[in-house]
Amino acid sequence: MANVTVIGGQWGDEGKGKIVDWLASRAEVVARFQGGHNAGHTLVVGNETYKLSLLPSGIVRGTLSVIGNGVVLDPWAFRAEVERLRAQGVAVTPENLQVAETCPLILPFHRDLDALREDASGSGKIGTTRRGIGPAYEDKVGRRAIRVCDLAHLGELGAQLDRLCAHHDALRAGFGEPRIDRARLERDLGEIAGFVLPFARPVWITLNEARARGDRILFEGAQGVLLDVDHGTYPFVTSSNTIAGTAAGGTGLGPNAAGFVLGIVKAYTTRVGAGPFPTELDDAIGERLGERGREFGTVTGRKRRCGWFDAVLVRQSCAVAGVTGIALTKLDVLDGLEEIRICTAYRLGGETLGHLPAHAADQAAVEPIYEVMDGWPESTHGARSWAQLPAQAIKYIRRIEELIRCPVALVSTSPEREDTILVRDPFAD
Ligand code: IMP
Repeated sequence: MANVTVIGGQWGDEGKGKIVDWLASRAEVVARFQGGHNAGHTLVVGNETYKLSLLPSGIVRGTLSVIGNGVVLDPWAFRAEVERLRAQGVAVTPENLQVAETCPLILPFHRDLDALREDASGSGKIGTTRRGIGPAYEDKVGRRAIRVCDLAHLGELGAQLDRLCAHHDALRAGFGEPRIDRARLERDLGEIAGFVLPFARPVWITLNEARARGDRILFEGAQGVLLDVDHGTYPFVTSSNTIAGTAAGGTGLGPNAAGFVLGIVKAYTTRVGAGPFPTELDDAIGERLGERGREFGTVTGRKRRCGWFDAVLVRQSCAVAGVTGIALTKLDVLDGLEEIRICTAYRLGGETLGHLPAHAADQAAVEPIYEVMDGWPESTHGARSWAQLPAQAIKYIRRIEELIRCPVALVSTSPEREDTILVRDPFAD
């Protein structure tokens, strides 16, 4: 198992950035396989802070970085991110960054549609990042998408653009919006093509060759299992599969490429956007978690909803995503709480459930059943070994492992890379 796949085990924002950065420094290739620039990873290297949305985290350290076919690519956001990194002194070249030729493009009218739908949804809002992710994936499976390889064939796009524009013009008309300015779209595509095309490659070849050489590949997931379009809290989800299995299909490798599946899991729970959240806290403890955990979205700046650790959800995430071990993050945010609750089951209409029911109304109605544990007054901030953790914090971690039926591979105790307790090295397996 030379490869590692990192995925979020909750609703995203579990603190993947730090763990991915640490693992990326030991990988030969880092690959994104789903999502787009709705993701947000903050990397702190030395005195410099890098904010990544679309580019794989390896790019900051010069590791070969690959954007797989499962990603939806906004070419203008791509250019902006590359230029921002270059301005920070990072070398981004076609030598260290490759984009799958088959990536579908996010176009300006996808972004429009995302926002129009959200604004028209009232209380049914999903709370998307408004980046056009969902509409772009719709066009991919609707077989209407313009893909990266099309940028080299802009003169032959006529019929394809006719179909795509006809589809969107009908949707836009429903919202009272003007038709797509086709001339402008063609001009804009022509202008951006020159920037994107040098990075375009058959990345499945690059990755299969890397694998044959025995290179270590780190697959960098975005969002989290509970936002998976199949396994998440549908319809309050993103539009891709966020589970580890997508690492293969989203890059062009076989299903055994994923290797060690590391699920990143926060020691409590947060969510941005709308949708069910059984252990949400609307009280002073929720506020405290948000403040101490600095729970604001990297991409949209929105305040994250906070709640107790939900072992039912994480157990389900680990099962459906095939998690080998978890990285437990932000343990220090719980320091100083008198008591800590863990949700171990749900109550729904007189029944006790050990899993999240499928229907959105049931998901919204479940009541958490809590187990109460003593907190710890000591600080765990910056702990680098079990010996530096209070006994009660260790008890909390052990109880989580038991409830989610998955071992802890890492514990992260601060944003600093070194402040990590390594239990099992994912790359060593
Ligand atoms: P979309 O991916 O922009 O369509 O948004 C769909 C849902 O996924 C919304 O609830 C977003 O807040 C959520 N979401 C998308 N990307 C992320 C992420 O990187 N972290 C956390 N939530 C996300």
